[in-house]
Amino acid sequence: MSGHDSDINVRSKDVIERILSMELVRVTERAAVSAARLRGHGNEKAADQAAVDAMRRELNKLPIDGTIVIGEGERDEAPMLFIGEKVGTGQGTRVDIAVDPLEGTTLCAKDMPGAIAVMAMAQAGSLLYAPDVYMDKIAIGPGYPQGVVDLDASPIDNVHSLAKAKGVQPHEISVLIMDRPRHADLIAAVRKTGASIRLITDGDVAGVIFTAMQAETGIDLYLGIGGAPEGVLAAAALRCVGGQMQGRLILDTQEKIDRARGMGVKDPKKKYEMTELAAGDVIVSATGVTDGALLKGVTFGREVIQTETIVYRSITGTVRKIHGEHREFAKFRLD
Ligand code: FBP
Repeated sequence: MSGHDSDINVRSKDVIERILSMELVRVTERAAVSAARLRGHGNEKAADQAAVDAMRRELNKLPIDGTIVIGEGERDEAPMLFIGEKVGTGQGTRVDIAVDPLEGTTLCAKDMPGAIAVMAMAQAGSLLYAPDVYMDKIAIGPGYPQGVVDLDASPIDNVHSLAKAKGVQPHEISVLIMDRPRHADLIAAVRKTGASIRLITDGDVAGVIFTAMQAETGIDLYLGIGGAPEGVLAAAALRCVGGQMQGRLILDTQEKIDRARGMGVKDPKKKYEMTELAAGDVIVSATGVTDGALLKGVTFGREVIQTETIVYRSITGTVRKIHGEHREFAKFRLD
């Protein structure tokens, strides 16, 4: 694309105004600060609710005509930020919004590393309406030929193929997997290759993103089953930096199949490519709640609250880390 074309593209009325990137930072900052006040209090629900309240309040100030497509649940089960809820002033660009106001509720309640507040905004109609079910996922960072790993290949083949593409031995590959009994066979298969496995207790949005930060995290490959909403958020972030990801919804009961159908999922066995999970122009913002490999957590000083936020934008592939110092809401406890 010539510089001129890309300029036209960036200015097109079809793309999300880049000024909204900063607005998204404010939204996740506020959610993170609210959750962080309840860090280490052993109450997942209260921390999550605080993050939801703050995120909703901030979202409703934005000059957008937004629809929640990934949220706190379906209409009848979530009073706030439910799938289908309209957010924003209603006067502006039509956008899809995916939110996880507190990703890693247990991490926050126990003050363990890796809790974040995260959201994505995309052109209307471009994020998968994912029901709150599990998703089988595979992800790698940028720089590999397309299709070097595949959700339908065996874990052993995936590790071997990735090692070959990277020019290393399988035992030099690091795989991130959630520490769950459902992954016993997966872990055993990966162990046969000699690859190293990092097990995480929670937080697989960051887990997927770690593959795109291999130099810092050492992670080459994400494998396994986590939440579908988290899958869409992770795909949105990975798209911005050019990694690869695939996901398949786990619809193992008729009730889940029907629920997914109601949300527009025609083929319950479909393998989604990253660009089907999150298409179009997308912006992703995440703020640390507790310290982690992706982001520092919120710190509360006497007069200043500090935050760290990462913002991704797909159209330019820009990634920014923003250090925030907040004086007003430290003073007045305005979170
Ligand atoms: P919550 O913030 O909702 O607790 O989710 C944390 C998380 O670890 C996600 O990162 C992950 O996708 C999901 O839970 C996995 O679900 P489960 O804990 O049921 O295995």
